[in-house]
Amino acid sequence: MSSGLSRGKNLDVGEIGINMRSLPSFDQGRIDPRKWFTNELAPFEMEIGSGKGTFLLQESQIRTKPNYLGFEWASEFYKYAADRLRRNHIHNVKMMHGDATEFLQYWCECNVADVIHLYFSDPWPKTRHHKRRVVQDSTLETFHRVLKSGGIIHVVTDHNELWEWCEDHFKRNSHLFTKSLFCTSPSAEDGELVGTNFERKYRREGRPFHATTLHRVD
Ligand SMILES: C[S@@+](CC[C@H](N)C(=O)[O-])C[C@H]1O[C@@H](n2cnc3c(N)ncnc32)[C@H](O)[C@@H]1O
Repeated sequence: MSSGLSRGKNLDVGEIGINMRSLPSFDQGRIDPRKWFTNELAPFEMEIGSGKGTFLLQESQIRTKPNYLGFEWASEFYKYAADRLRRNHIHNVKMMHGDATEFLQYWCECNVADVIHLYFSDPWPKTRHHKRRVVQDSTLETFHRVLKSGGIIHVVTDHNELWEWCEDHFKRNSHLFTKSLFCTSPSAEDGELVGTNFERKYRREGRPFHATTLHRVD
């Protein structure tokens, strides 16, 4: 993704932004991210790879009850998304700067999340980069651990080869998750699945999408 998002403006992550590097070392124990929110008893959802934060901005205003934690490892996008959420006075979203899979694997407490959103994840098409894809056997195990009983994962992609990869992984891990039809997000506009920036861009190009919802097996 390109840089220069700030266009010379000072981006302020305010109280929305959390830097993964500022967390205590993970050998000091797991962290319950719900405690970062005023109402820590609210349902809790996470988005991996929030980009400019469009989904979180839209969804958090339509479904106001849950708390949301977005992850973005690209510094400019993290700052842009957090600044945008702060300017829009969104209080039920936080953005973490860092690798979502690392946070979830090493820091995150078990059974905390109701939903994980994974939209237009980077496809990493070269074979030697496949290990960087978010969906791996190990991450599916981690997602299963951090999701509550009844928890779900929404996945949408335009990328055929990444979709095949996901399908293989979902099939292999059917003891952890079962697949069902994807339900359009409440904040999506007409004809959209979720309404992220990448979905809007690819839709203009006429690309077809793949989408599913995975249900945690108890
Ligand atoms: C192709 S973009 C899609 C952004 C947004 N979801 C959308 O649909 O417009 C994927 C984003 O995920 C971020 N990303 C990829 N892997 C990540 C990870 N493991 N942790 C945090 N962010 C990640 C990338 O930096 C990038 O901004």
